[in-house]
Amino acid sequence: MTTATTASSVPESDVALFSTESLLDPYPHYATLRGLGPAVYLTEYDMYGLFRYEHVRPALVDWERFSSAEGIAMNAPTNERMEGSVLRMDPPRQRVVRKVFDDALRPRFVRKVAGDLEQLAGRLVESLVRRGEFDGVADFARKLPVDIVLDLIGFPRDEQREEILHWALGAFNFMGPASDHQYASLPEVEALAQYLVTKATPEKLLPDSFGQIVWEAVDRGEITENEALLTMSAYACAGVDTTIAGIASTLWLLARNPDEWAEVRRDPTTVPGAFLEGLRVEAPVQFFSRVTTCDVELDQVTIPAGARVVLSYGSANRDERHYPDPDRFRVRRHPSDSVAFGFGVHTCPGRVLASMEAHALFTALAERVETIELAGEPTRVPNNITRGLESLPIRVT
Ligand code: HEM
Repeated sequence: MTTATTASSVPESDVALFSTESLLDPYPHYATLRGLGPAVYLTEYDMYGLFRYEHVRPALVDWERFSSAEGIAMNAPTNERMEGSVLRMDPPRQRVVRKVFDDALRPRFVRKVAGDLEQLAGRLVESLVRRGEFDGVADFARKLPVDIVLDLIGFPRDEQREEILHWALGAFNFMGPASDHQYASLPEVEALAQYLVTKATPEKLLPDSFGQIVWEAVDRGEITENEALLTMSAYACAGVDTTIAGIASTLWLLARNPDEWAEVRRDPTTVPGAFLEGLRVEAPVQFFSRVTTCDVELDQVTIPAGARVVLSYGSANRDERHYPDPDRFRVRRHPSDSVAFGFGVHTCPGRVLASMEAHALFTALAERVETIELAGEPTRVPNNITRGLESLPIRVT
C-alpha cells in the first residue's frame, strides 16, 4: 500500500523491498517508489529511501548532511562491526584512510598487470570456445578476479581463497535490515573476520601486494591496525564479488541482446561502453545507506535529522527521468554518469581495476566469438546489497 505526498510530508510505502521476491526482481518496486516522490518513508524498515537519480547522486556528494559515520549498513550490529572501516567514515579521517587505497589502486600501478590480464583473458576465452558451452559465472566471470585480484591484494594462495567469495557475499547480505535472512549470514561474517586476523597479516600476505602497502601505512603511523584489517576486509568484500557480478550480468545482457553483441563485434571500441551499460542496468551494489545530520528538505518534503536513508544505486541507474528507455541495454549509451561505482568522497577506488578485468574479458570474446546464447535458465541467490548471478549457462560459436 502507498500513500501520496501531502505538503512537506514524506510519502510512505509498505513495500517489502528486502523480501526474497523483491530482491530477485526489484525493478517494478523501484519504479513505483520513484513515482511516489523525492523521498519515501519505508514503513517496513523504519528507514527513508531515495530512488531518483536526481536525488541519489547529490546525496552521495553531500556527506555533510548524508553521513557515513554511523555506518552504511541497515542494522546496528553490522555498523558496530564496521567501526574503523573507510566505508564507515566521513572526511577528514576518511580522506586519510582512503589515501591508502588510492595509492595502492592508482591506475599507473594497476596497469602493470594489464598485459597479464590480456593474456589470461585470451587463454581463458580460447578454452571456453573449444568447450562451446560453459557457466558464465564459474568459468568466465570468476576467473580473473580470483586469480589476479586476490594475488594483487596479496591473500595467500591456499585452499581458503575460493571461500573468500562466499564469505564476502555473506558479509554483504549481513548489511541489510535485521531479518532471519540477514542473520543467517552470521557464520560467513565470522569466518571472514577470522580469516583476516589470521591470514591478512604482514607475514602471510604475498610480497609487493596491496596488502603490504596497507601494513606499511600502519608502520608509518598513518592508519591504525584495526583500520588496516577493515581495509583488507573492504578489499575482500567490496572488490571481488562486485566485479564478478558486473562481468556476469554484462555477459547475460549481451546474450539476451544479440544485436548489441553484433555491434560490439563490429566495433570492439564499444567494449568499455558495454561494461558501463551492464553496470548501469544491473548495478552490482544495489543499496547502501547514510544517516542525516540535520533536517534535509528535498523538493518540498523533509527528511528529519538522524534518519537512516537508503540510497538506491540500482534504482537511480534505471530512472526514466534521467536515462531514456532505461530498462534497455544499449552498448552505445555510454552512461559514464551512472552511480554504479558510487559518487563523491566514497566513489569506488577499484573502478579502474574492475573495468580493466572486464575489458580484457569482453575484448577477448569479441575477437573470438560470433554468437553468445543462453543455454539454460540463469539462477540468482537473493542478497540484501549485491545483485549478481549464481549460474549462467552460456553457449558460444
Ligand atoms: C564492478 C565492480 C565494482 C563495483 C560495482 C563497486 C561499487 C562500489 C560502490 C557503489 C561504492 C560506494 C560505496 C558508498 O557509496 O558508500 C564502492 C566503494 C568502494 N569500493 Fe568498489 N566496486 C567495484 C569494484 C571494486 C574493487 C575491484 C575494489 C578493490 C580492489 C573496490 C573497493 C572499494 C572500496 C575500498 C570502497 C570504499 C571506498 C570509500 O568508502 O571511500 N571496489 N564500490
